[in-house]
Amino acid sequence: MTDQKARKILVTSALPYANGSIHLGHLLEYIQTDIWVRFQKARGQQCTYVCADDAHGTAIMLRAEKEGISPEDQIARVKAEHETDFADFQIAFDNFHSTHTEENRELSAEIYKACRDKGHIATRSIKQLYDPVKEIFLADRYIKGECPKCHAEDQYGDNCEACGATYTPADLVKPFSVISGATPIEKESEHFFFKLPDFQEFLQTWTRSGTLQDEVANKLAEWLDSGLQEWDISRDAPYFGFEIPDAPGKYFYVWLDAPIGYMASFKNLCDRRDDLDFNDYWKPDSDAEVYHFIGKDIINFHALFWPAMLTAADYRTPTAVNAHGFVTVNGAKMSKSRGTFIKARTYLNHLNPTYLRYYFAAKLNNSVDDFDLNLEDFVQRVNSDLVNKLVNIASRTANFVKKSGGTLSENCAEEAMVQSFIDAGDQIAAHYENREFGRAMKDIMALADRANEYIQDKAPWAMSKEEGREQEVLDVCSVAVNLFRQLMTYLSPALPELAEKTCAFLNLDDLNWDSRTNILRNHAINKFKPMLARAEMDKVTAILEETKVELEKENGGAPAASDAKASKKADKNKDKGPAKREDGSEAIAETIEFPDFAKVDLRIARIVKADHVEGADKLLQLTLDIGNGETRNVFSGIKAAYQPENLEGKLTVFVANLAPRKMKFGMSEGMVLAAGPGGADIWLLEPHDGAQPGMRIM
Ligand code: 2FM
Ligand code: ZN
Repeated sequence: MTDQKARKILVTSALPYANGSIHLGHLLEYIQTDIWVRFQKARGQQCTYVCADDAHGTAIMLRAEKEGISPEDQIARVKAEHETDFADFQIAFDNFHSTHTEENRELSAEIYKACRDKGHIATRSIKQLYDPVKEIFLADRYIKGECPKCHAEDQYGDNCEACGATYTPADLVKPFSVISGATPIEKESEHFFFKLPDFQEFLQTWTRSGTLQDEVANKLAEWLDSGLQEWDISRDAPYFGFEIPDAPGKYFYVWLDAPIGYMASFKNLCDRRDDLDFNDYWKPDSDAEVYHFIGKDIINFHALFWPAMLTAADYRTPTAVNAHGFVTVNGAKMSKSRGTFIKARTYLNHLNPTYLRYYFAAKLNNSVDDFDLNLEDFVQRVNSDLVNKLVNIASRTANFVKKSGGTLSENCAEEAMVQSFIDAGDQIAAHYENREFGRAMKDIMALADRANEYIQDKAPWAMSKEEGREQEVLDVCSVAVNLFRQLMTYLSPALPELAEKTCAFLNLDDLNWDSRTNILRNHAINKFKPMLARAEMDKVTAILEETKVELEKENGGAPAASDAKASKKADKNKDKGPAKREDGSEAIAETIEFPDFAKVDLRIARIVKADHVEGADKLLQLTLDIGNGETRNVFSGIKAAYQPENLEGKLTVFVANLAPRKMKFGMSEGMVLAAGPGGADIWLLEPHDGAQPGMRIM
């Protein structure tokens, strides 16, 4: 980037409503955007990422009332919560503002007036349902009643959940206001409309000019072809929002000033930063790029109303609107009763955000397809990619560098290989740029596999035992550390916390994309500290449980329906143990849930020593090599089946996370796995030769 002019890029994510917590569905978008922004910054672009709370509307006003506080206090409270959640997920906004601010009031008024003065605003009276007790107009979601078709009670104003009929709120039998319970009346009032049809031709071109994904443009074409409607941009008092200029008692509909909030947040930042100029980014002749990342449910606001309003007000339009799909968990819609409607904070109470950032990155592409978070796959994937593959490269080699003085070799023993890792960065960068993060992660993990193969092949731990090979050990480990540095450079947009730890370990200021071309030679590094613990399935289970408890609290203490069923079943099965069959084999034990199974850490070990135990009839004492130069002492009841000398050198399977047990003969630190009825008829499990001590069995 040094010889090229940096691109000026402004990026936004959709503004979260200030009446609820951030959850997994939101996080997909913020993580996606944050990765893209960090990538641009790592490439040396002048990239700015702004966001804000979406603070207006009836829902926020009613929520504040319920809490007994002012809307201003309500939105301040939620903003603080949102900001902490984002920071803890390492979402690095350059500015997080609010739509309830002076900048936004001014910009909204300015844009509205420009539209009005050019004749793009119409006014007319419309009839709406009104709550005569609360004295408020009722949006459809605040009206319920009996279905006009099947007479099911308590149905919302647009469709019946019982029979599927669709209708308007005025068709409901015995309608009532959800707010006060009163029977709504019809009332007329004057509304303001943005004349979207004025922009038909402009939008027909704009939506096909590379600003949208093809699938999105195709969807919009259906609407454009069937003719655009005028858009109602006003709401009557009481409403928490901005009053429309020259129209007392009329307020901008929240969706009018929400996208303007992107500009307001940026303006607020420009006012504090000498290197950023608002007009430079927003005037029609701007050479800056503007990108909105959004969910596919709000495309019409961003790809129809928004570009039309901007054009009317003589501002530039976005370079692109990047839409993503919805998050599902275990293949189903996020659900409160299943515990899968997971809040950011609930996740953070149990798990490291790095895991989720990686999983999202590993599965994200640039389409609007829905995104499934399969919780078992999630745990398995982050452990196998990040812990077993990635961090392993550094953890198995760094100590040898430290032992030889802590400075990497002057000589790069595998220049061609390191260079191929450096070269791979161009393709990986192209994937990031294109929002094909999954492809980027796939390429990176393929490189990690190559790095591990190299280390395995050279086996510096074996070399280090031979005298006179110190330089060779240092050379191999220096190559490994250099490869690790390349990988972490490529991963740093997705895994900022690991990137920081890598900088501390490697004594580097940053991992910017360009500097990777300098191989680290004769470079002092620091002691390697563990970077990432394994993800545990029981933590995932705890998140689901905590989410269900949150729901119970919301429901005033009643357990989630599916929960009650599950615990009854568990009670019924409580005392059943495994039953012996006539042939001596055991019946399959009661089923356990996957999280219970996932707790068992099964690994490969090599029996390096086997001995009789004095005074023990059944036991052998085994010394296991469990990889990474570590050994374990295990007592095993296989004396009748094996001569100790026949066991030495064999590979077997052992339970690595069994709590150590104090036995009469000493401490047993794990358990080897064997099968058979017992006595002489018992066989140790012996994995294939390709297995290596320390490998996890999954
Ligand atoms: O759908 C939502 O959650 C909105 N609060 C998004 C607003 S995005 C932008 F236009 F402000
Ligand atoms: Zn019905």
